Amino acid sequence: MHHFQYQKDELYCEEVPVSEIAQNVGTPFYLYSHATLKQHFRAFDGAFGNLKHLTCFSMKSNSSLAVLRLFAGEGGGADIVSGGELHRALKAGIDPQKIVYSGVGKSIEDLKYALESNILLFNVESSQEISLLNDIAKGLGKKAPVAIRVNPDIDPKTHPYIATGLKESKFGIDIRESLDEYIRASTLDHLVVSGVSCHLGSQLVQTDPILDALNELQKLIKTLRHSGIALSYLDLGGGLGITYDNENPPLPDEYAKAIQMALDMEDLTLILEPGRVIMGNGGILITKVLYTKNAREKRFTIVDAGMNDLIRPSLYGSFHGVQPVKTLGREKIKMDIVGPICESGDFFAKDREVEALEPGELLAIMSSGAYGFCMSSNYNSRPRAAEVMVKGEQYDIIRSRETYEDLVKGERIPDYLL
Ligand code: LLP
Repeated sequence: MHHFQYQKDELYCEEVPVSEIAQNVGTPFYLYSHATLKQHFRAFDGAFGNLKHLTCFSMKSNSSLAVLRLFAGEGGGADIVSGGELHRALKAGIDPQKIVYSGVGKSIEDLKYALESNILLFNVESSQEISLLNDIAKGLGKKAPVAIRVNPDIDPKTHPYIATGLKESKFGIDIRESLDEYIRASTLDHLVVSGVSCHLGSQLVQTDPILDALNELQKLIKTLRHSGIALSYLDLGGGLGITYDNENPPLPDEYAKAIQMALDMEDLTLILEPGRVIMGNGGILITKVLYTKNAREKRFTIVDAGMNDLIRPSLYGSFHGVQPVKTLGREKIKMDIVGPICESGDFFAKDREVEALEPGELLAIMSSGAYGFCMSSNYNSRPRAAEVMVKGEQYDIIRSRETYEDLVKGERIPDYLL
């Protein structure tokens, strides 16, 4: 369910016509629906309502301050992967005791920053990181709460670039070696061994892989108990998929129920790190048609957003729905919808049947709320797009469009070139 719907022939976000926003903000811009995001957060968090749990929104999917603030207001925590994300989370008012930190390459500075901020849990991913974190905590006179992120070698059946729990992947510590690491970590004075974590991959459309992982984790937790190591947190990561085209992922309720059925350790706090399932269909990218042209084999519709704004189709071949902001009931024709960037990979849709669009018309690229703006870049020296949030009849710019001055901010020409 989302609040990007047509009223007559015009696309609205909640109660605001998208074209009105475009008129005032210019294009391209990301557009988020407050009601949709709130509803998605509540649907997910509420589905785990019977269990002791913490929903840590995965900021890598969208780290804009207004978005984070919305979830903080709903009691959400954050799953972070960098000092930069920690900075944003704290700025948005997320309680550090609801922040968990994963990542294979945490820097010394970032580990220090997170320790000083008193976050809930470090999901450590290597033997060296365990030792380093202990040393840093010692230097600061602190104890670091840790979970070992284990790699269970389970195929999540998703795009290979976003599968993270296979033995050939760089993430986590092999589950078979984790027992030794737990035993070693528990002897280190400046660590408090508190949990286990795992993240299989993203855009998962089946529950079986996650249940397999849960079983493996529970086995490990029991073995640890026998070795005198009692954990408090079981972090299952994120990964629940959404419908971009015709995928049929489990609903949060079904997902939560399946997990609850398989869980036999109710004394533990379950941590969940959803990103896409909350954000994905809560945002769209609005772009304007610049030109259309017919090449020998194809019709191209050239729009003013590019792969620098939304890289998912170029990077993963991902499908995103495209919908005209005004439908005029014209015949649909097959076209490629492409951006202005000098790369053939700069496309949003290929051979897609869409109403024939004219220059100046607006187009919505659907399901762009997750891994959209946050993966955007300045490639081709293109200022990054604006972001807008709608709540009812109101809309607010939550991030201004970058300017040309922003593009050169921090650059310097050395004296010998002057
Ligand atoms: N937790 C960890 C440790 C993760 O690595 C991820 C995603 C998540 C949670 C959130 O996963 P989600 O619930 O959003 O599936 N750029 C790619 C997705 C990369 C996901 C990386 N990790 C895309 O656009 O599809």
